Amino acid sequence: MSAEVLAPDTTRKHHLQNYEETYRHFDWKEVEKNFSWYETGKVNAAYEAIDRHAEGNRRDKVALFYSDANREEQLTFGELKDLSNQFGNVLRKIGVEKGDRVFIFMPRSPELYVSLLGTVKIGAIVGPLFEAFMEGAVRDRLEDSGASTIVTTPELLDRVPVDDLPLLEHVILVGGEGELPDGYYRYEDEMKRASTELEIEWVDREDGLILHYTSGSTGKPKGVLHVHNAMIQHLQTGKWVLDLQEDDIYWCTADPGWVTGTSYGVWAPWLNGVTNVIRGGRFDPDDWYATLEKYKVTVWYSAPTAFRMLMGAGEAVAKKYDLSSVRHILSVGEPLNPEVVRWGMKAYNRRIHDNWWMTETGGILISNYPSMPLKPGSMGRPIPGVVASIVDDEGNELPPNEMGNLAIRKGWPSMMRAIWNREEKYKSYFTDNGWYISGDSAYRDEEGYFWFQGRVDDVIMTSGERVGPFEVESKLVEHPAVAEAGVIGKPDPVRGEIIKAFVSLREGYEPSDELKGEIRQFVKTKLAAHAAPREIEFKDKLPKTRSGKIMRRVLKAWELDLPTGDLSTMED
Ligand code: WTA
Repeated sequence: MSAEVLAPDTTRKHHLQNYEETYRHFDWKEVEKNFSWYETGKVNAAYEAIDRHAEGNRRDKVALFYSDANREEQLTFGELKDLSNQFGNVLRKIGVEKGDRVFIFMPRSPELYVSLLGTVKIGAIVGPLFEAFMEGAVRDRLEDSGASTIVTTPELLDRVPVDDLPLLEHVILVGGEGELPDGYYRYEDEMKRASTELEIEWVDREDGLILHYTSGSTGKPKGVLHVHNAMIQHLQTGKWVLDLQEDDIYWCTADPGWVTGTSYGVWAPWLNGVTNVIRGGRFDPDDWYATLEKYKVTVWYSAPTAFRMLMGAGEAVAKKYDLSSVRHILSVGEPLNPEVVRWGMKAYNRRIHDNWWMTETGGILISNYPSMPLKPGSMGRPIPGVVASIVDDEGNELPPNEMGNLAIRKGWPSMMRAIWNREEKYKSYFTDNGWYISGDSAYRDEEGYFWFQGRVDDVIMTSGERVGPFEVESKLVEHPAVAEAGVIGKPDPVRGEIIKAFVSLREGYEPSDELKGEIRQFVKTKLAAHAAPREIEFKDKLPKTRSGKIMRRVLKAWELDLPTGDLSTMED
């Protein structure tokens, strides 16, 4: 165990000054009083995030600095209020109602954020889709959720199988020109005609807000449903963990297609009335540092893969830029190597604060705080109001330093409220005695710091993106040459894990590098680029259980040269 400790930042006052004291006395009821709905009980997260500030003293404060290689724009809270009102009116006019699912499938742009907020304002449930998804991935999600509406761009439209989706009634296109068939609408034309006055749909705290599809080790991606009540956690973790203050310029590098890009790319900053930087385009060290410098970013939330790539690019690149505005750095999504934290101290003269959560938890649950000593390699301690523990498979708590299931006491504000249309699946996350079982294994030290050990299941975290092996295997076997496929995460120094596929070929096909390339391209174009295996290995036969299930654990043991363990269930 690492004895290394990095001292807290004492140069300023933080929201969470005394962890122990706050942890002992904190009650979520206190946070609820911050909201306008505390008395009425009726709520709307988009109102709280935008309109409340626009109607108060932040009307002309910049809410959004947007930029990509071709575009640069800024919107105040007042402008964002008006635009999202207009989009709410557009949706109402075409017949979208409370509870309907509206998906947004486009690259980051101001329109994406306007659409997201407008959807929420009329009480519809928003489903953000990562722009890299190909047709199969888009279809699965629209079909499962029964989406009525999609907001997309002309460039991405051929990945939306509109004609195969009987429940999909409306397609709103951002950009492009020319006549459109029935059921299609041009964003720009509709917005021009729409009023900036909107009657907000006041919903219950437990009404649906957002649907994020995420991967497990088996089955298709599942729709994790979050409700408006989650804003309590987004507001408060924005204070305690991101340490957001009035004059901060905040940048979260995640795409809203993933939960970090909404919980902490939309809700936490805006609920706190803070200026939010959105940078479109792909990762590039110079581009990222230039973004920090240009906007004088103060709080920066990113992922271990990005920090490892920045480390790979070298300290000299960092030193070319003036990064002195940056006062607080955070990381989520995969284990943050102590090595990276140490490098951050050298390159940025700042601690990188690891924190832990997942799509299902809706918000941060375990974290390092600016006011707390930081142990490189540890995810930190549970936020006040959250009870975290290590339990065995029956839900019995384990003593310090023993490895087990990382578990959370049920009932934190941003906990998922359903897996879309899969009640049994939802229930399977919880033990009878009230623990949420995360699927991660970890241990807790004597001081209450949690240390990540690995996934209990086969879920792959590659470059911070969560990929289910089953999805990739299913796509692989659709390729005419592939008979069977088994997919694992292979440890990688930069990406955390890379996807490796073991493939057996059908009669008449011979292994070749060309075929590898073709199979890889197949997954890339049919599912998503980030889900395509970086390595493919041909095998005559794959290890399977007697019931025919591919034993990924054996594949992994082969790959890593580890003992294969109990093979009693394996067929000959
Ligand atoms: C992993 C992303 C180690 C973990 C917000 C979890 C982490 C999964 C950490 C969720 C961390 C997240 N250290 N591993 N600090 N944070 N993970 O749903 O395995 O995309 O279960 O949510 O990422 O991934 P998801």
